[in-house]
Amino acid sequence: MNNKTHFGFKEVDVEDKQQHVKGVFSSVAESYDIMNDAMTAGMHRIWKKILVELADISENSTVLDIASGTGDIAKLISKEYLSSSVFMTDINMEMLNEGRNRSINESFNKNTHFCQLNGEKLPFADETFDVITIGFGLRNFTDKSAGLNEMFRCLKGDGRLLILEFSKPKNKAFSKIYDWYSFNILPRLGSMIANDGDSYKYLAESIRMHPDQESLKEMVLKSGFNDCKFYNLLNGIVAIHVADRR
Ligand SMILES: C[S@@+](CC[C@H](N)C(=O)[O-])C[C@H]1O[C@@H](n2cnc3c(N)ncnc32)[C@H](O)[C@@H]1O
Repeated sequence: MNNKTHFGFKEVDVEDKQQHVKGVFSSVAESYDIMNDAMTAGMHRIWKKILVELADISENSTVLDIASGTGDIAKLISKEYLSSSVFMTDINMEMLNEGRNRSINESFNKNTHFCQLNGEKLPFADETFDVITIGFGLRNFTDKSAGLNEMFRCLKGDGRLLILEFSKPKNKAFSKIYDWYSFNILPRLGSMIANDGDSYKYLAESIRMHPDQESLKEMVLKSGFNDCKFYNLLNGIVAIHVADRR
């Protein structure tokens, strides 16, 4: 019998999940950026800036951004740290193409490399990167622990991992409003802007299935990191986990 996993609230075969996720992002690739601004009222830009601040990137760093999509995080890093070498990567060619075109149009392609890859199986040697970042990507992995193990393996001894992801709000009343927004407004916005309500229903469901702050911290530590802290943003709707290898 096939092993099962979740795709949002649905149960699917483990080997099929990646294909389902691909369907979501291929469908929303063109309207992804507008939709991000609409559904977070632009706040995702601030969250990504905070992530880059916390990365504490030094001169001449080699940085891997996993699940880059249209490249917001890679752009912030390659523009602010001109001496760094930034790898913009994604499993989905449509999303990566949007990012690559944007890097040419917005001139951040000089120190940026592009690579289509699965974050659960990184095609890099051990201890290659100074910093690894992943924004709103881990939630979509079939095997999150495999991904975290790979991130640990590919970081240098003094390397740092930063995970920006939706998480669990702390306040109960706030949580109720957030649920109402997620399951009523979000799919409608998705229908109106991306012509795809189902993908945004998946977004809301996948957030509920993702480990909360403490559970993700445990998973990060289990993959070998020596230290992991997290910072709640917007009452914990979003969290940034910062993990140091040493
Ligand atoms: C919500 S988008 C995030 C894009 C960007 N990081 C941002 O914050 O705007 C999630 C991205 O994760 C990618 N993704 C999903 N599973 C992946 C995997 N196993 N390996 C690499 N990328 C993956 C998707 O293709 C998609 O582009």
